[in-house]
Amino acid sequence: VRQLVKQRRPPGFPPGPSPIPIIGNIMSLATEPHVFLKKQSEVHGQIFSIDLGGILTVVLNGYDCIRECLYNQSEVFADRPSLPLFKKMTKMGGLLNCKYSKGWIEHRKLACNSFRYFGSGQRLFERKISEECMFLVDAIDQHKGKAFNPKHLVTNAVSNITNLIIFGQRFTYDDHNFQHMIELFSENVELAVSGWALLYNAFPWIEYLPFGKHQKLFFNAAEVYDFLLRVTKEFSQGRVPHMPRHYVDAYLDELERNAGDPNSSFSYENLIYSVGELIIAGTETTTNTLRWAMLYMALYPNIQERVHREIDSVLANGRMPTLEDKQKMPYVEAVLHEVLRFCNIVPLGIFRATSQDANVNGYTIPKGTMVITNLYSVHFDEKYWSDPGVFSPQRFLDANGNFVRREAFLPFSLGRRQCLGEQLARMEMFLFFTTLLQRFHLQFPVGTIPTIAPKLGMTLQPKPYSICAVRRHQKS
Ligand code: HEM
Repeated sequence: VRQLVKQRRPPGFPPGPSPIPIIGNIMSLATEPHVFLKKQSEVHGQIFSIDLGGILTVVLNGYDCIRECLYNQSEVFADRPSLPLFKKMTKMGGLLNCKYSKGWIEHRKLACNSFRYFGSGQRLFERKISEECMFLVDAIDQHKGKAFNPKHLVTNAVSNITNLIIFGQRFTYDDHNFQHMIELFSENVELAVSGWALLYNAFPWIEYLPFGKHQKLFFNAAEVYDFLLRVTKEFSQGRVPHMPRHYVDAYLDELERNAGDPNSSFSYENLIYSVGELIIAGTETTTNTLRWAMLYMALYPNIQERVHREIDSVLANGRMPTLEDKQKMPYVEAVLHEVLRFCNIVPLGIFRATSQDANVNGYTIPKGTMVITNLYSVHFDEKYWSDPGVFSPQRFLDANGNFVRREAFLPFSLGRRQCLGEQLARMEMFLFFTTLLQRFHLQFPVGTIPTIAPKLGMTLQPKPYSICAVRRHQKS
C-alpha cells in the first residue's frame, strides 16, 4: 500500500506513462532509455514524469525545456538526488555526486582552480599532451597496420592527461594495476544505470540478496577505493605544504588550512571520492569520443579523406599540431562536434535534483525531486536539427566552409553543474585526433564492418571493434 501511495503524482506534477505496480517504469528503461524517453516526450510533452519503483522522476526533453531549467533556473536544478546507490558509494560527498551545498562549492572551486593551475592554464601543458600523443602513436605503430582494438591504448593515453593534473605523473601503458582499476571503474559507470542499480535505489534492502549486478558494483567500488587510497598516499609523499605539485597536494593544503573548522567539507574520504570522480569523468567520456571518432573515420572514408587534406594543408612537413592550429581546421572541428552530437557520450547527463520547489511550463515540482536531463533529445531535436539521424559534419560549417557554433549542442550539459572538464576535453580531443589522423589512415580489416549500436551505460561507447591504423606518407 505504501508503494502505491508513493507512486501517485502530486497535484500539478508533470504527467507521464502509467507505471506498473511496485516497479513503476523501470523495465521500460532496459533498452536505449534515452530513445524511449524521447519517444515518451512526443506523447506527454517536453517535460513529463516516470516512476522508478516509487521514485517519481521528472524527465526534461528538447533544447527549449532543458535550457529553461538548467540555464534560466540554474540554481533550482543544481542538486543531485539522494539515491541509496550514491549514498552508499560516496555518501553524497566528493564532487560529482555531491549535494548542492557549501561542500560542493568548495570541491568544485578547488578542482577548477587546480585544472587551470596544473593543466590548461600552464604553458607547458600543451606540450605534455603532445608528448602523450607521441606515446600513443608509438604504441599504435607497434601493431604495424594490423588489426587491433584501440580501446585500451586510447583509455590509457587519455587518462594520463588527467593523471598529470591529479598526481603529477602518467602511468605507462603496461601498468596493469592502473588498467585494472580503470576497467572496474568503467564497468561501474555501465552498471550504475542498469536495471539492478535502479532496483537497488527503489528497494535498498536487495543489498542483502547474495546475487544481482549491484553486488558487483559494490565489489568493484571497494577495490577502486583501495587503489586510489594507495596511489594518493604514494604521490603525496615528499609534499611541501603550500607548494602544491598537483591536485592531491592542493587538496591536502586545503584540508590542513580548514583543520580547525568543524563545518569544513575537506576530508581524506572526500579526497579519494573526488580523485576517483575526476579520473573516471575525464577518462570515460573523452576516450569514448575518440573511439567513436576513429570508428566513423573508417566507416566514412570520404570524410576521413577531407580530414587528411585539411591536416596536411595546415601542418606543413608533418609538424605536430598545436592548439593554435584549431582555428585553421574548421573541418576537423566540425567532425569532432558531429561525433559529440551524434554519438551522445552522456545521453542522459548525470542525474539532477531540484534544490527547491520549482515551476516549469505551468507544472509544480517539489524540492528534492529527481530530474533526468535527456541530452540526446537536444541533439536529435527536430526543431533545431534537420535529419538529426544522419551523421553529417557539414551541419557545423557555413557556405564558405567556416566553422559555425550551434545552439542546441549540449554534450557538456548546462548551468551550475555543467562539465568542469570541457576545456581540457576540447584540448585533448583536438590534439589526439589530429595527431592520429595526421599519421594514420584508419580502415577496418578486410570484410568487416563493426556495428554502430552503442554499448549502453551512463555513457555510450562503441562495442569493441578492431581497426587497422596504416601509416600515411604525408603530402606537404
Ligand atoms: C559533469 C560531459 C570530459 C569532469 C559532466 C556532465 C556531462 C559531462 C554531460 C553532467 C553535467 C550535469 O550534471 O548536467 C562530458 C563530456 C566530456 C567530458 C562529453 C568529454 C568529451 C570531462 C573531463 C573532466 C570532466 C575531461 C575532468 C577531468 C566532470 C565533472 C563533472 C562533469 C567533475 C561533475 C560536475 C559537477 O557535478 O559539478 N560532464 N565531460 N569531464 N564532468 Fe564532464
